[in-house]
Amino acid sequence: MKALILSGGKGTRLRPLTYTGAKQLVPVANKPILWYGIESLVAAGIRDIGIIISPETGTEIQIKTGTGDRFGANITYILQDQPLGLAHAVKIAQPFLGDSPFVMYLGDNLIQDDLNPFLDSFKNQQLEALILLRSVSNPSAFGVAQVDENGRVLQLVEKPKNPMSNLALVGIYFFSSAIHHAISCIQPSARGELEITDAIQELINQKQSVEALQLLGWWLDTGKKDDLLEANRIILDTCLVKTIDGEKDEKSQIIGRVAIGKGSKIINSTIRGPVVIGENCHIENCFIGPYTSVADRVTLQSTDVEHSVILKEAQILGIDDRIIDSVIGQRAKLSLTPHHPKAVRFMIGDDSQIELY
Ligand code: DAU
Repeated sequence: MKALILSGGKGTRLRPLTYTGAKQLVPVANKPILWYGIESLVAAGIRDIGIIISPETGTEIQIKTGTGDRFGANITYILQDQPLGLAHAVKIAQPFLGDSPFVMYLGDNLIQDDLNPFLDSFKNQQLEALILLRSVSNPSAFGVAQVDENGRVLQLVEKPKNPMSNLALVGIYFFSSAIHHAISCIQPSARGELEITDAIQELINQKQSVEALQLLGWWLDTGKKDDLLEANRIILDTCLVKTIDGEKDEKSQIIGRVAIGKGSKIINSTIRGPVVIGENCHIENCFIGPYTSVADRVTLQSTDVEHSVILKEAQILGIDDRIIDSVIGQRAKLSLTPHHPKAVRFMIGDDSQIELY
C-alpha cells in the first residue's frame, strides 16, 4: 500500500499567506498541516509516500519536510507543472504508484479519525475505491455523493449548484490501480481540471465496487481562514500537552494547558490555555487567551490576543484593542504609533483583510 499526498495547487483561498508559502505548510498548533497527514498515514503503516508539489512552493515543501526520516517514512516528491486537477495529479504520479493500491490524501485536509478501520474495510472487501463522506451545511463547496441505504455510491458530482445530498467527499480516498484506467476515460471539467470525482463516477459507471463510509470524528478542509482557525482550535483542544521549556517571571501567570518552547520569555503576562508558543518568543505585558498559536521568534508587547494564529517572526506591539479570530502572517508588524496625527497607517499586502470598528 502506498500513499499520494496532494500538495500542489495555488491556495488562492488562503491569500495573502499563500503568496509567500504553500498552504499545506501553514501551521496549525505550530505544526504544518501537511505533517498531520503524513503522521496519520505512517500510523496506519503506510511508509511509501509520494507528495505532489508545484513549481512555486515545491522547494519549500521539500526543504521543510525532507526525505521522510523524521516521520519514519520514505518520501518521493513528484512535480506537477500546473494544477490541472486532482486526477491529473494521480496521472503524473503513475510511475511512482505502479500497480499498487494507494491512499490519496489532500494535503490541506485534517481528520480526527484513525485511518486503520477504513484501510481494513478497503482491503477486506477488495474494493476498487473507498471514499469517505461527511454531512456538511454547504455541500455546493465540495464533491457531493448520493448513496443507497447499504453505503453503495450511486452518484458523485463535483461542487454541484443543486446538491442531491448534504454528504461531502472528504479529501481522503482509497484506490486500487483500477483508478488509472478510469482517469484515462475522463475529460477536463468546465473549470478545466481533471476531477477525481469524475474518475470515481467513471468507476461506478463501469460497475466496479465503490463504497462509502462516513467519518465519525471531525474533518477540516483548511483552505480558508475560518477553517484554519477552527482547525487550530480543535487541535489545541484535543492534542496539546502542557510543556514549559521557556522562562516566565514571577509576575506572569500560566493557566491551563500551555506549551512554551525553548528560549521564549514571558514577562508580566497572563497566558490562559490552550495556547502554544514556539521557541525564542518575547512576550511582555500581554494577555494570551485560549486557542492561540504563536510561532517561533514572535514578539508580543502590551497586547491581548485570543483565538488567533500568529506566524513566525511577527511583531505586535502596544495594540489597545484585543485581537481575536485573526491570522497574522510571517514577519508582519502591527504597532501603535507615537506619531501625530493620531490615525491608522497601513502597508498591507495584496488580498489582505483588515476589520476595523
Ligand atoms: O476538501 C475536500 C474537497 O477537495 C472535495 O470535497 C472535492 O471533491 C475535491 O475536488 C477537493 O476540492 P477542493 O476545491 O477543496 O480542492 P483544492 O483545489 O483545494 O485541492 C485540494 C488539494 O490538492 C490541495 O492541497 C491542493 C492540491 N492540488 C490541487 C489541484 C487542483 C494539487 O496538488 N494539484 C492540483 O492540480
